[in-house]
Amino acid sequence: MDMENKVVWITGASSGIGEALAVEMGRRGAALVLSSRRRDRLIEVGGKCGIADEKLFLLPLDLADIDSLPEKAKMAETAFGRIDILINNAGVSQRSKVSETEITVIKKIIDVNFLSGVVLTKEVLTGMLARRAGHIVAVSSIAAKFSTPLRAAYCASKHALHGFYNALRAEVKEGGVDVTLIVPAFVKTGISVNALLGDGSPYGAMDKNQERGISPGECARKILHSIEKKKREVYVGMDFKARTALFVSSFSPVLFERIITRARIT
Ligand SMILES: NC(=O)c1ccc[n+]([C@@H]2O[C@H](COP(=O)([O-])OP(=O)(O)OC[C@H]3O[C@@H](n4cnc5c(N)ncnc54)[C@H](OP(=O)(O)O)[C@@H]3O)[C@@H](O)[C@H]2O)c1
Repeated sequence: MDMENKVVWITGASSGIGEALAVEMGRRGAALVLSSRRRDRLIEVGGKCGIADEKLFLLPLDLADIDSLPEKAKMAETAFGRIDILINNAGVSQRSKVSETEITVIKKIIDVNFLSGVVLTKEVLTGMLARRAGHIVAVSSIAAKFSTPLRAAYCASKHALHGFYNALRAEVKEGGVDVTLIVPAFVKTGISVNALLGDGSPYGAMDKNQERGISPGECARKILHSIEKKKREVYVGMDFKARTALFVSSFSPVLFERIITRARIT
C-alpha cells in the first residue's frame, strides 16, 4: 500500500502502540493527524515521525468528552481534506472489582474505549462512503475474547468493539470501506500503569504480562501489515499463556471460569 498518499488519524498517539504506529506510518510517508490528551507528548511524538510539518496535524482531545468529538472530527478532516485511515487506538484499562468501582469510572472506560471511537467513525464514514474508499481500524484486546476479574468495564468495552465493528464491516464492505479489528494480548506499554482503580486513580504498576510483551514497534508493524492486507481481525502479542486461555475459554467456558475464579489475578 502506498502510504505516501494516505491521511491517517491515530488516537492514543502520545504513547505505547499509538506512538509506534505514528512513527511507522510517518516513516512510510503518510500525512498524520495525531490525537490524545497530552499536547506536549504529541509534539514529541510528531518530532519522531520524520515527516515535514505540512504533513503533520496535532489534534489534542479528551475522548471522555463525547460531546466535543464531532467538532474535533471536523478539524481532523479539514486538516488535509479527508481521512483515509482512522485508527481508534486510545484506551484505558482497569484494575478494580465491580463492587468497588464508581459508576463514573465504568462510564469513562466505556466512553474512551468504545463510544468515542463510534463517534469518530460515524463522522469520517460519510466522506469515506462518498469516495468509496477508506479504512477504519479499532484496537481491541484479548479481553474481548474472554473476561477476567478486576477488568469488567474494560472487558465490556472491548467486547462491544467486536459487536459494533463486525456489523459495520458487513454494512460498508460493498461501499469500498474496510474495517479491521486488532486484538493485542501483551505489548510492553504503560497500559497497566495507566489502568484505573475503582476511584479513578491510576493503578501505577507495570504488569508482568506487559513487561514480557512484544515491543510497541513490533506491534505497530503487524498492525500496518494487517491494514495493507485489509484483514478483518488480527491477533498480536499472543504468548503461550494467552493462546492457552483463548483455547480453553472457547472450548470450555466453564473450565476457564473455574481457573480464573481460583487464580490470583492482579
Ligand atoms: N499494551 C497491551 O498489552 C495491550 C493489550 C491489549 C489491548 N491494548 C490496547 O491497545 C491500545 C493502546 O494502548 P497502549 O498499550 O499503547 O497503552 P498506553 O501507552 O497507556 O496508551 C494509551 C493511549 O490512550 C490515550 N488516552 C487515554 N485516555 C484518553 C482520553 N481520555 N482521551 C484521549 N486519549 C486518551 C493516551 O494518551 P493521553 O494520556 O495523552 O491522553 C495514550 O496515548 C488500547 O486500546 C489498549 O486497550 C493494549
